[in-house]
Amino acid sequence: VVLGAEQSDAQSLPFQATLAKLASVLPEKLRRPRVGIVCGSGLSTLAAAIRDVVEVPYASLPGFGKSTVPGHKSQLAFGLIGPGEGVPVVAMLGRLHPYEGHGLATVVYPIRVMARLGITHLIITNAAGALNPDIAVGTIVVIQDHLALPNLTGMNPLLGPPAGPNYPRFLPLSSAYSASLRRLAFLASHKLKLGLDALAEGVYAWVSGPTYETPAEGRMLRNAGADVVGMSTVPEVLVGKEEGLEVMVLSLVTNMVVISQKYRSIKEEVEAELAGKPVVQQKEETVSHEEVLLIGKQKAEVMKNLVGKIVELIASE
Ligand code: 6GU
Repeated sequence: VVLGAEQSDAQSLPFQATLAKLASVLPEKLRRPRVGIVCGSGLSTLAAAIRDVVEVPYASLPGFGKSTVPGHKSQLAFGLIGPGEGVPVVAMLGRLHPYEGHGLATVVYPIRVMARLGITHLIITNAAGALNPDIAVGTIVVIQDHLALPNLTGMNPLLGPPAGPNYPRFLPLSSAYSASLRRLAFLASHKLKLGLDALAEGVYAWVSGPTYETPAEGRMLRNAGADVVGMSTVPEVLVGKEEGLEVMVLSLVTNMVVISQKYRSIKEEVEAELAGKPVVQQKEETVSHEEVLLIGKQKAEVMKNLVGKIVELIASE
């Protein structure tokens, strides 16, 4: 795939076939979810917040790609959240990323399908690295804005013909991250007795991956105003907004991005070596997907409770 060259013609996607398939496998009470949830790396256990679950494999749905990332399943989970009758929801257990080779239209197809099922709110979760040294590992960051170099340079899921006659050609993103939903996130944290400090607020930088940032790239993103960085989410936000949804993003910080460590000076090491002095080598830090998944696992319970409570608050508004 040449990502930048991809044209996403949303009008030619197989919506009818996908929706027909879903209607054929879902009981009546689950067919019109109100809230869509996207589960990030290691966060598919969010599904435990959902009851009366019906799981539908992506492989059975026309137009759906398959998630190939460890820690991601490839299923939609339909069900209910909260007491009483419950709020009907649909969760993506496992998302699709451009770095897997999926075109952007495929990455966002499930969002467009959820919009056509009638969701009004989209809660997106992800695992991210912290660029802001004041944000500790394990913190959940309520995203208030984004910085997306791929979008600015031709890798935008909205490239191509508009998704339909009633879609905006030039989508404004000045309030992409719903302030009312962000308020509910903090209220939910308070109601769960986690306090307001369990959550932080910040700016998400989207990079294409699959490589992690170099230290210089991390510094650039930090200097440009980003607090966390990750390889997902922004395409989903754009399409959620284009589809007219209220969108919220919760980033779980799984690791610190190393941006301040002093470079090892090979010049100084050789100088020492030639002078017969002991050579002191600095340890170089690095990040791994295993670390990302581990923190996801540890914090999945908190994320699950938070998302569950936010859904309840959405329904009680
Ligand atoms: Cl450090 N970088 C990126 N791009 N994505 C991440 C991450 C870092 N940690 C978790 N996801």
